[in-house]
Amino acid sequence: MINIQEVTKDIYWIGGSDRRLALFENLFPLPKGVSYNSYIVLDEKTVVFDTADISISDQYLENLKTALNGRPLDYLVVLHMEPDHCSQIATVAAMHPELTLVGNVKTFQMMKNYFPETADMKKIVVKEGETLSTGAHTFAFVMAPMVHWPEAMFAYDTATGALFSADAFGTFGALESSIFADDYDFEKDYLDDARRYYANIVGKYGAQVQAVLKKAAKIDIKFICPLHGPVWRGEHIAWFIDKYQKWSKYEPEDDGIVVIYGSLYGHTASAAEAFAAKLRAKSGKDVKVYDISKTHSSNIIGEIWRVGKIVIFSPTYNNGIYLPVANLLHDMECLTVQNKVIALAQNGTWAPVSAKLMNEKLSTLKNVKIVDNVLTIKSVLHASDEEALDVFVEAVTEA
Ligand code: FEO
Repeated sequence: MINIQEVTKDIYWIGGSDRRLALFENLFPLPKGVSYNSYIVLDEKTVVFDTADISISDQYLENLKTALNGRPLDYLVVLHMEPDHCSQIATVAAMHPELTLVGNVKTFQMMKNYFPETADMKKIVVKEGETLSTGAHTFAFVMAPMVHWPEAMFAYDTATGALFSADAFGTFGALESSIFADDYDFEKDYLDDARRYYANIVGKYGAQVQAVLKKAAKIDIKFICPLHGPVWRGEHIAWFIDKYQKWSKYEPEDDGIVVIYGSLYGHTASAAEAFAAKLRAKSGKDVKVYDISKTHSSNIIGEIWRVGKIVIFSPTYNNGIYLPVANLLHDMECLTVQNKVIALAQNGTWAPVSAKLMNEKLSTLKNVKIVDNVLTIKSVLHASDEEALDVFVEAVTEA
């Protein structure tokens, strides 16, 4: 069924949501689905910004055909070449041989690999600040390299103030009945997934996000049209840009504390729970506890982005770090986690070494302070360990 929604004058959303896909990029769970946004501008010339994932191709092509209502498609602007947005380029190009493809040099290098059949199509290669006019609308191109791929760029409509922002300002989660963020209780319905999306997809590229935010600060943005999740408009935009400022500067959003544990048989889990309760009582902070084997690491990465203080409990396993914890540390390293205070607790029945090994890995992260005090558990946290636990709680509270 056709589902086209107006963003503002002449601009329409023609995307769709997928609630069936289990894993985004075959990695990240999507319990609430995901949307793939595409936009069409019906001006003197017609222009589409990005296509969509193959999973919604039927819906997408039906929306596109209906929106065009028999008109030719003059331009297909490709802001991002990742297949969740570019999968329909060859199909749309075959349906509309009249169209001109618009991208930058890197866009077309990638397009040649994915869609060699577009090699002979008409193309416009744009650079930073260059524009495309469709009549009443003029779109200025803003390069946004590594947000999230090197060819990523934004387009800004000087007529309406709409910023087409590619992956930036996107979120996991299917769209419900509205395309607009302000029609939802975004903090309740989407914020955790927005943060998880940011941290895991573009978290590594904070400096590049900062660079593009500086460019964005110079323009009057009235709408943000991302490729995933709701569209932002009006006074709500500043709130979400502030989130992006914090996330890209690796600044905590709140003063909560996250406790992460791995546990083979429940003993390390029990110690982490006892610690969390004491920490809550001592610090007065919101303390959240996660079992690394039960909570997907992308959710934990999102939580690590939210807070400034993290406590990690790991058993010693094969004379090393418990594998799910080791994987998390690797992910933190890849995503260049910064500006954290991290405390470590280890368990080992005969030779606990996981804290030392975690310290070695985490010490390579920028602006990360590792708390000197380490809690060591020998198999089980006993009543006789209470004093050591209290000292650890004190150290974490004060750090
Ligand atoms: Fe949603 Fe980087 O693609």
